[in-house]
Formats: sequence, C-alpha cells, structure tokens
Amino acid sequence: MPQQLTPTNLNQLAKEFGTPLYVYDADKIKVQYRKLTSAFGLDTVFFYACKALTNINILKYIRSLGANIDCSSINEVRLALYAGFTPNRILYTSNGISFSEIEEAHDLGVIINIDSLSNLEKFGMKYGHSYPVGLRLRPNIMAGGNLKISTGHDKSKFGIPVDQTGQILEVVDKYHILVNDLHIHTGSEITDVSVFLKGIAVLFEIVPLFKHLKFIDLGGGFKVPYKEGDTETDIPLLAAKVKEAFANSPSAAGRNLQIWFEPGKFLVSECGYFITEVNVIKETSSTTFVSVNSGFNHLIRPMFYDSYHRIENISNPDGAEKVYSVVGNICETDTFAWNRKLHQVREGDHLVFYNAGAYGFEMSSNFNSRYKPAEVLVKDYQALLIRKRDVFEDLLRNQIEVL
Ligand code: LLP
Repeated sequence: MPQQLTPTNLNQLAKEFGTPLYVYDADKIKVQYRKLTSAFGLDTVFFYACKALTNINILKYIRSLGANIDCSSINEVRLALYAGFTPNRILYTSNGISFSEIEEAHDLGVIINIDSLSNLEKFGMKYGHSYPVGLRLRPNIMAGGNLKISTGHDKSKFGIPVDQTGQILEVVDKYHILVNDLHIHTGSEITDVSVFLKGIAVLFEIVPLFKHLKFIDLGGGFKVPYKEGDTETDIPLLAAKVKEAFANSPSAAGRNLQIWFEPGKFLVSECGYFITEVNVIKETSSTTFVSVNSGFNHLIRPMFYDSYHRIENISNPDGAEKVYSVVGNICETDTFAWNRKLHQVREGDHLVFYNAGAYGFEMSSNFNSRYKPAEVLVKDYQALLIRKRDVFEDLLRNQIEVL
C-alpha cells in the first residue's frame, strides 16, 4: 500500500473489503495535527473532538500523536479511557446533560466544562471548591458554515449566555467554586479568523472576574477544503492573531493562560474516503441518476447540511465526462449530488466520496435495515480492517421477541 491513497488503491480496497466502505488514512491525520502544533507551538493544547469519528483505533492513533481528547457524552469519555487517554487528557464539554453524568465524569477524574447554571449550582452544592471546573459559555456570536452547525449565537441552546455572568458569579461565590477554564465553541467550518478574535474579546472582558483561571478553550470549528480552490481556515494566520490577542490583552497580562482548541473536522475530515458501488443507472428525460449501494443512512451530511463531497469514479478514471445525479438506494430522497460531472459511470463501478472521515460513519444508522459499512485504516503501508460490516444478527441484537 503506497503512502498516498490514490484512486487505484482505493479501488483495490473496495474489491478486497467490499462496499460500502469507509477508509481512513492515518498519515493524513498526522499531517493535520502537525499543522496545528507547528503553527501554535507546544504551549497550546489540542483536544480532538472525538464526536467526529470514534473508532477506537482512530482514538488510539490520535493519542499516540500527542493530542488530548474532547468528549460530548459520558460514553465518549469511557471510550477515551478505553483508548488509553489518562483522565487529565480528557475533557468532557457537556451540553444539556443530566447531573449524574457530571458526577460520573467527576468520579473518573476528567476535566469538565459545565454548560448550565442549573448544573453549576448542583456541582457547587456537591463539590464546592474541591474540584476545579470549566464553564461553557455562549458568546452570542454568529459563526459557522450554516445555521445547523452554528452554536455560539444568541438563540443557541449551547453554553451559559455570557450576559448571565452576574448569575454565574453568584453561584461561584456561594460555593467557592474554582473556575479554571472558560470555554466557547461558536460553530463548525469557520473560515474567518476574526470570529475567534471576537470570541477572545468576549472572554477577556470577564477574565478578571475569575481568579483561578488557567485555560481559555476556544472550541473547534476549523474549516477544511472540500474541493479545489475551496476556502479553509488559515491556521498560521489564526495562530499569529490568537497569540497576538493574548499577548496584547491587559486582562490576560500576568495570568499565564493556556490556549485550548477542540478540532474535530480539521483532524479527520480529509483522512476519510467513503467508497460505494453503482447499483443502477437510470436515464430520465431530465436527469441521469446513478444509484449507489448506500444513502443518507451511511453519509448523512449532503442531505442534512447540504454539504459538498467531491465524488470520483475510481473504476473508470479515463472515461469521458458526463453529468449525473448521484443518489442512494434507500426508500427516501437521499441525493448525494445533483448534476455532477463524473467520468462515465457504469453499473458495478466504484464511486468514492471525499472528506468523509468526520461525521460520516459516526452519524450513520441502520435505516431501512441496511447494514452499517465496514471501516479500514491505512497505516504504515498496511490496510487494516477496524470494523466489520454489520451482519443480519446485528439488526436483531437488542430486540426482544415477545410475540
Ligand atoms: N467542540 C465542541 C464543543 C463542539 O460542539 C464541536 C462540534 C467541536 C468541538 C468540533 O467541531 P469541528 O472542529 O468538527 O467543526 N455534524 C456536523 C458538525 C457538527 C459539529 C458539532 N460540534 C457536520 O457534519 O458538519
């Protein structure tokens, strides 16, 4: 297996492991992680937002690179521990969770960001100043690729609105809570570096009110390119501007605050390839449909977020180009792409979808009682099966036959 995954060896993998198939390139994850560490230096800490892709091998690999991990459920915390992250490298950024999960996270010794006044009160009452904790704030900033992935605006459910800082301080004072981290995550696919600077400015206004702060957590949301010439977050520029903002802020002066980020897509979007096989070609008066052996049950992003995934016919790279609409085989509209130019497609050909690593397999389901795809990790010139394709028994596994 050559280092760079080419259409030819993706096609070989499809033949070897069958389709639909997710393939991840470990080297690409490393390249992305190094882009961050080389731009920001070693004093900035990156917590991989593992909601993007939680295969245990991916978690172990990312741990081996030196990254920390950000979790969005107690089960992700458990997976992170299982993958070998020590509790001090695990961050649980909560969102509307029951207090019992916070208790569990506390007992596991992981870092916690609390996102509601209600849970902060419960935390104070139970733990007082015995366990430093972070606050997930809503900075009231609109950012991100589209509304569904914007999380920091003034109508968003996420975080404690920053305009409620007075109420936060009342709870903090009442229980002598040690707030060591302020967190924001404004959205996903942010290209505009100034969004992060606005967030920093919001946080710096209240930094003087928190005496025990050690960390400023700016969340994730770096954009990667989806096609040639597409925009992406300029990481070196972001690093320079963020560092400058920290260096020049009077409220950060002398506080020695460490910068944290939680990248998800940036680390694993481009490492992932989703390979499908063409079941049917259907000519209609308006459109030539290519139906593949998948649908939004396996890759929901195009239907859910209107996301663009580059598609390539890896079985016929030299075929003449034609325009097709690529759809799935599930019993609902599941269009992957309208009017896309592809090298001539024939039934049985393999089509690959790019940028499929983040929120691809992770958001897949068994809708229409289809099997979830297999996953393969390409690492050190080897293709390793890291998840078996479902089998029929998986569909019935947790069902209880009472009739
Ligand atoms: N930190 C927090 C608190 C988050 O909620 C998220 C993503 C991240 C970090 C990582 O964001 P990223 O670097 O991946 O943009 N399923 C959608 C994206 C939803 C993101 C949810 N939160 C998609 O496929 O576009």
